[in-house]
Amino acid sequence: METDRTHLDPRLLTAADCVRPGTVAADIGCDHGKLAIHLARRGLNPRIIAADLRPEPLARAAQNLKRAGCEDQVELRLGNGLTVLAPGEARDIVLAGMGAQTILELLEAAPWVKDPQVNLVLVPATKHTLLRLWLARQGFVLDRDIPVRAAGRLYAVMQARYTGEVREPDLAWCIAGQTSGPLAGEYLAGQLVKLRKYCRGVKDPARLEQLEGLLARLEERL
Ligand SMILES: C[S@@+](CC[C@H](N)C(=O)[O-])C[C@H]1O[C@@H](n2cnc3c(N)ncnc32)[C@H](O)[C@@H]1O
Repeated sequence: METDRTHLDPRLLTAADCVRPGTVAADIGCDHGKLAIHLARRGLNPRIIAADLRPEPLARAAQNLKRAGCEDQVELRLGNGLTVLAPGEARDIVLAGMGAQTILELLEAAPWVKDPQVNLVLVPATKHTLLRLWLARQGFVLDRDIPVRAAGRLYAVMQARYTGEVREPDLAWCIAGQTSGPLAGEYLAGQLVKLRKYCRGVKDPARLEQLEGLLARLEERL
């Protein structure tokens, strides 16, 4: 029996739940195209664009879309980040499975996403803290920040919207996220493991003292 290649893990299922019905949706860095297939089957978005930087993943996505009978509902595009979109073309934009640094660089290159109508669904593979910090400094708020477990790892699915209210966020918030729910404690514990590891490489005593204070403050929440 052929395995269901369109099965979504909880990370992408949660991301799909953050995509609003009725908008043109884009999945940037679509790879296998599973999220786009799920959105097509869900049938709530009038247009779906799935894009990737490299031809090989895009060919894989094309194959999976065909197999799922969704090839007419999803437009595939080859290119770097949001350059595949005309400004404003998509209002729900998913960037999942890339590192936070890549995600923020792709967003920086597309200033048109600084529009309150645009819904960003971001699932960084690494450096969640950095992405929260960047979003706050750029004037985005997080409407949702959901910890999810997939393939034995904890991820955060972030739904961000531009308000223009630039702020310097509390670092504790950037680390812990707006976490509540069943995985919140585990998520924080995982983030603290990373912070402790980071602290081991900090040489500046003043900085280290500051970070250890932050660690102690966050450990009290566990
Ligand atoms: C690990 S896969 C993630 C696939 C899927 N979004 C997920 O979360 O399961 C990352 C994908 O992003 C693509 N990618 C990396 N940098 C990109 C860029 N600058 N623009 C578009 N796609 C990119 C890669 O080619 C790869 O297919």
